[in-house]
Amino acid sequence: MSEHSDPRGPWPAVDPLEPYTTPERLARIDSVLRHRIVSVTTVFEDVFDPHNIAAGLRTTEGYGLHDLHVIHNQFGMRSSSTVAKSADQWVDVHQHSSTAEGLRALKADGFSIWVSDLQATELLTEMPLDPKIAIVVGNAKLGISEEMRKLADRRYILPMYGMVQSFNLSVALAISLEQLLPRRRAQLNGWGDMPVERMWSLRQKWLEFGQRHPDVLRRALEQESA
Ligand SMILES: C[S@@+](CC[C@H](N)C(=O)[O-])C[C@H]1O[C@@H](n2cnc3c(N)ncnc32)[C@H](O)[C@@H]1O
Repeated sequence: MSEHSDPRGPWPAVDPLEPYTTPERLARIDSVLRHRIVSVTTVFEDVFDPHNIAAGLRTTEGYGLHDLHVIHNQFGMRSSSTVAKSADQWVDVHQHSSTAEGLRALKADGFSIWVSDLQATELLTEMPLDPKIAIVVGNAKLGISEEMRKLADRRYILPMYGMVQSFNLSVALAISLEQLLPRRRAQLNGWGDMPVERMWSLRQKWLEFGQRHPDVLRRALEQESA
């Protein structure tokens, strides 16, 4: 699949930093961006263990999503460095100071709130896809809050057949995305759905990774070609 068969069209320009990366890395960046999905996002409610956040972040990025929301009720707002320590450079982490605030922002952005919940009975595999979906996982000990249950558009259970009572939250997230994303990708004919402008701005940023003074280099190259 080349950029020319992507219905969103080709890149708006040639980035002067392209020759400063290998063709293989450039192809990888382009392919990852063109398969990025932003109509599905992940939400962690009161997850405070940095290992769990890191695992969830890795799962979110590995499945080709770009936005992760972290809601802090019980344990106070984490300093951005606590989350950033486990965040990596390939996704955007959005922090919210309460469930109500986080869900207000997501709903205002058109997201339906789908909550993985041990008290639910519906199956994710049987839920009709909404245009934008936020997948929520809860705290390792306390699970999902009552407030989240009330505000959720849908709640689902991931069937379990063993003696343990729940999956680790990042495993629950991975199973949820595995059940959901093939259907979304089929709707998109295999492409992602990030708008070209956002892909382009991330592409510029990603091409700058590894350069010692990317802004200086970019300015010099732009002046040279002017
Ligand atoms: C370790 S579990 C929480 C267990 C907690 N004692 C409870 O009662 O919810 C962490 C989160 O992973 C998700 N989860 C884990 N297993 C699940 C399952 N079988 N079905 C749906 N969600 C699950 C839920 O979001 C849950 O809040």
